Amino acid sequence: MFEVLTPLAPDPILGLSVAYNEDSHPHKIDLGVGVYKDEQGNTPILKAVVKAQHKLLAAEKSKTYISPQGHQGYIDGMLTLLLSEKSQALRSNRVAAVQAPGGCGALRILAELIARANKNAKVWVSDPTWANHIPLIGSAGLEIQTYPYFDKATASINFDAMMDTLRQCTKGDVVLLHGCCHNPTGADLTNAQWDEVLQVAKEREFVPFLDVAYLGFGDGLNEDAYGIRLLTDNLPEVLIAASCSKNFGLYRERVGLAAIITKDTANKQIVQGQIQSVARGIYSMPPSYGGALVDMILNDEQLKHEWITEVDEMRNRMKSLRAMLVDQLAANGADRDFSFVNSQKGMFSFLCITPEQVREIRSQHSVYFVESSRVNIAGINKQNVKTLAKALVSVIK
Ligand SMILES: Cc1ncc(COP(=O)(O)O)c(C=O)c1O
Repeated sequence: MFEVLTPLAPDPILGLSVAYNEDSHPHKIDLGVGVYKDEQGNTPILKAVVKAQHKLLAAEKSKTYISPQGHQGYIDGMLTLLLSEKSQALRSNRVAAVQAPGGCGALRILAELIARANKNAKVWVSDPTWANHIPLIGSAGLEIQTYPYFDKATASINFDAMMDTLRQCTKGDVVLLHGCCHNPTGADLTNAQWDEVLQVAKEREFVPFLDVAYLGFGDGLNEDAYGIRLLTDNLPEVLIAASCSKNFGLYRERVGLAAIITKDTANKQIVQGQIQSVARGIYSMPPSYGGALVDMILNDEQLKHEWITEVDEMRNRMKSLRAMLVDQLAANGADRDFSFVNSQKGMFSFLCITPEQVREIRSQHSVYFVESSRVNIAGINKQNVKTLAKALVSVIK
């Protein structure tokens, strides 16, 4: 039966990792896959997570299934983190939510929920967006359209064009927005721009679908939630897919959250049943471990404080790496102003160089990143920044 299948092109990001591992260059640099790295190039287990693991080991008495929606302490902790204690949607019991296997799992089951509600719903994604949005949402059978987002020529958001397109959305359309730290560009909406998005969402009656994979990596845990809280406080329906892979460093544990702000409590009960039934039809029961760890961290004052400190450290380190790169580019004679990198947020930046230049820096200098020019800022460190800047300057001349 499988002889009818045809080979697929390798995944561009995973293919890059393979090429990097095979490269014997002593000063090769990996700015490809989106995982946080410390100064030594390691992806550490956060200290708060290590402590929670010890507590969990001592406390866990069974490996039986957890409840279908996941750990309720995890769900409540995450919803408070995202929406805040003051959230009207939470207070009025309008939020359905399940623990999902990673942010990807959350995106996928929310896409299936949208398809159950309206199989003709159109989902608008930013141009560009994270490549995996397309299969995750498209596999649910939904039509995908793009709205303009980033202009490489000006290295900034093309907000007017974005708004012009959103003004053409119709009732029931779904608009996917990155909650913060846009992947791949690092270019985030300002608070004033979020205010305008809210207005157009009200006018056109589309449903925002917020992907939140980097909360805390932009300006801070509360600051980064501005758009999420604005939309969820002011609209009847919003979808949220959140991930704990990056900000808790729990990549392999697969822990995420799918949440739906609904019109009222009666509809919330129905949506809760539906999203659990979607999950049941795909993977049946949620994995426990990662959610149990995040539950412990968010519901223990001391551990939560330690975790926030570690998120602050990761964010501040990435900010300082941006500044270091911009300085080194100028110091090495770049004939272009790269200061836009300092205003981009989170783990990624678009360097706005051409695919040919990306290929050249890879073949000539063993610096690896994807052809869109997206770099993982966390892959830079004090040892490699000068080499990186020199290599970049040499290919853009
Ligand atoms: C924009 C975005 N959304 C969601 C995810 C989902 O991550 P995970 O499934 O590992 O939690 C990622 C991971 O890279 C991402 O960049």
